[in-house]
Formats: sequence, structure tokens, C-alpha cells
Amino acid sequence: MNKRIRVSASILSADFSCLREEIKSVENAGADELHLDVMDGHFVPNITFGPFIVKAMKRSTELPLSAHLMITHPERYIEEFIFAGCSAICFHLEASGDPTSIINTIHKNRAKAGLVINPDTPIKVVEPYLDRIDFVLIMSVHPGFAEQEFIVDIIPKIKVVRNLALKLDIAVDGGINDKTVDSVIEAGANIVVSASYIFSSKNRKYAIERLRGKNG
Ligand code: DX5
Ligand code: ZN
Repeated sequence: MNKRIRVSASILSADFSCLREEIKSVENAGADELHLDVMDGHFVPNITFGPFIVKAMKRSTELPLSAHLMITHPERYIEEFIFAGCSAICFHLEASGDPTSIINTIHKNRAKAGLVINPDTPIKVVEPYLDRIDFVLIMSVHPGFAEQEFIVDIIPKIKVVRNLALKLDIAVDGGINDKTVDSVIEAGANIVVSASYIFSSKNRKYAIERLRGKNG
């Protein structure tokens, strides 16, 4: 089954001193959504931003906002991020004691729910949830920072999930660029998340087209 490839521009590599212009630039360059990396300094060593900044992003774009929560106790913040303007939320299985209840909260608020797994986490832990989530996000770097090297060992995981769930949206996040993107699409991913490759590119439109795959 061939799903259209969607490019999710991760705002982590944007110049935050002119966030609105940066968002507009990737919107005009053809990004399908914005990927918002929320980090709390506990679940990951880095700290980024919360719902207050998300609200400002929402006022700057028509693109859907997809939050990637890298925080402990994600259940405490789900509704805040949805009220701030996110139409999709994903959270780490490694951070959550009760994924089903979080998925239900996300759906109750009419947003899409996703589960994230780290490079070292096996697929079998997401399997029980595959029929109740809208997407799975497979990390291809250890979460926390942009500009890391793609971990090639995660490719088989994409294939396993695709075989288990033919219609599920599968996103891959970390180290995605012109050299790594084809392998994740070939393995079955249909959403590619990228920060540094898009934002450091001189021609962001071209970079986004390239991420959609060899055939654009
Ligand atoms: C890492 C984040 C990624 C990051 C990707 O913790 O979840 O979304 O922004 O950055 P690049 O594309 O530079 O690897
Ligand atoms: Zn991310």
C-alpha cells in the first residue's frame, strides 16, 4: 500500500528569534505539518518550550501542529497542548504508566494520538496499542537534540510495524536527510520528521521535496 509521504518540519532547528518567519518559510516551502519537540529536562536532558509558545506558533500558521512530548508525566499536559492548538500529540511509552488512558484523553479532545519508541525499545511494547492509535513515531536517534546521526539499526522496526499495521501512519524522527530518507520510506514509513536538514538548507522547498522521496 502506497501512502502519500508527509514531511513534518521539526521546529527545533528554527531560529527562535524570528519564529514566525521561520514557520512561514517552511509552510511556504511545502511542509505538511510542524513537529514540536517538547522537552522537560527530566525525561531528556534538554529543555525546550511548553503550551505558551505553542499558542504563539498556532497564531503564526495554518499548518497542523503535532507535539512530540519528551516529558515525564505526559498525562498532566495533554489537554493543555491540545487547547494550545495541537491537533496531534505523541508521547513516549517509556514515560507513561498508563498509555491507554492517555490515548483516550487525546481522542476525547478530538486530536490524533501517537506512541513514540526510542531506538532501544522493542516493537513488542507498542503492539498492544496499534489498533487504537493514529500513528507510531519511531525514533532514529536518542531523543533530546537535533543534528544527531541516524541509527540505521531501527530500519527493521519500521518494516515490522508496517507488516503489523498496513494502514497505520508511521513516522520516523531523527537524522533524516537526503542520504537517509529513502531507506525509511522504502521500509514503510509515510511521515518523515526533519529539523536540521530542512532548516539548514539554502533551499527549503527543494529539501522538503527531496524528503518526499525520489519521486517527489
Ligand atoms: C530529537 C527530536 C527530533 C529532532 C530531529 O529528540 O525528537 O525531532 O528535532 O532533528 P534532526 O532532524 O536534526 O535529527
Ligand atoms: Zn521529535
